Amino acid sequence: KKVVLAYSGGLDTSVILKWLEDTYNCEVVTFTADIGQGEEVEPAREKARAMGVKEIYIEDLREEFARDYVFPMFRANTIYEGEYLLGTSIARPLIAKRLVEIANETGADAIAHGATGKGNDQVRFELGAYALKPDVKVIAPWREWDLLSREKLMAYAKQHDIPVDFAKAGKKSPYSMDANSLHISYEGGILEDPWAEPEEDMWRWTVSPEQAPDTPTYIELTYEKGDVVAIDGQAVTPGQVMEQLNRVGGENGIGRADIVENRYVGMKSRGAYETPGGTILLKAHRAIESLTLDREVAHLKDELMPRYAELIYNGYWWSPERQMLQEMIDASQQTVNGRVRLKLYKGNVIVVGRQSASDSLFDESIATFEDDAGAYDQKDAEGFIKLNALRLRIAARRRR
Ligand code: ARG
Ligand code: SIN
Repeated sequence: KKVVLAYSGGLDTSVILKWLEDTYNCEVVTFTADIGQGEEVEPAREKARAMGVKEIYIEDLREEFARDYVFPMFRANTIYEGEYLLGTSIARPLIAKRLVEIANETGADAIAHGATGKGNDQVRFELGAYALKPDVKVIAPWREWDLLSREKLMAYAKQHDIPVDFAKAGKKSPYSMDANSLHISYEGGILEDPWAEPEEDMWRWTVSPEQAPDTPTYIELTYEKGDVVAIDGQAVTPGQVMEQLNRVGGENGIGRADIVENRYVGMKSRGAYETPGGTILLKAHRAIESLTLDREVAHLKDELMPRYAELIYNGYWWSPERQMLQEMIDASQQTVNGRVRLKLYKGNVIVVGRQSASDSLFDESIATFEDDAGAYDQKDAEGFIKLNALRLRIAARRRR
């Protein structure tokens, strides 16, 4: 028996590694990915090796994550419950896919992850895995074992000679965190009181708006088919877009969110998020669409967006309905070409200009408040309004 484990190299997944071997008498393959969490992944190799793992996968998935997951999602202007930019949700389908691919490559019949039985992540990993490998076995140690506190985990690690940095593990952040190139999230600790404001030193990627520079930063994004392809005229890859926008957004105090959200399993949970680049992308994408999308296309996208967001939040990235929606969204983006100019200032993303040489539907000669030289016949509006008012007038007469 062989199991592929999503392995970070930290205390929890190191204990899981050992626990899997002991409980299931199986061989463990580890998989560690750089998806922009900002932490070295190479140390995970040493740790896995020290624990006797023979097949160790360490991968840089930053470009794939940005290109094939984050970018397609932003084409829809996706946001969950009006606030959450889905930073964790959108990374899970990629992890699930790689777990399954590695299982196929190594002849493993099971996958394992370190998500708890109370959250969304377990659902996302497992729905993804089942969609891509229908007979896969899933092991979720947090749903099975009784190591339910940090102390118990540390004791288990000591008892079994698991190589963990106990000093580091002992003074670990009080929050449950998850980071990738789209966001960093914080849950648990004092955040479990929805009335308690996070301490300033919790935030890691952004300065507070109060501390942000007094002079604004201007940036210009170039769009092709709904995706950013250049920043300030310089061509960039999707991975570079995330990196650069996170930096400039973070410096300007952009992208903090503090929300109570509805988890798929039924409970409400409070989370704090930093999504600097994503916050800029959302605003900028809407601005380029405002010029280049037909009104009804834009409104239909907006109606479907909450459904699409819910599919991603709930773990249905690899479902037929998500793929169908994606094709529709992508088709709408053919004309989403041009440039957006933004002013970043103390937590705000302010659109100051938008332009599309090839696809703008904005017609100045029609829209002008000045003399339009007959481009638009104002007399047409009279009948337009009167016919639209017809049923209102009939109803009003009836009421009299
Ligand atoms: N509540 C967010 C979500 O469901 C963030 C989850 C964070 N996950 C974690 N393992 N810390 O997407
Ligand atoms: C977890 O429960 O493992 C993290 C939180 C979540 O998945 O919602």
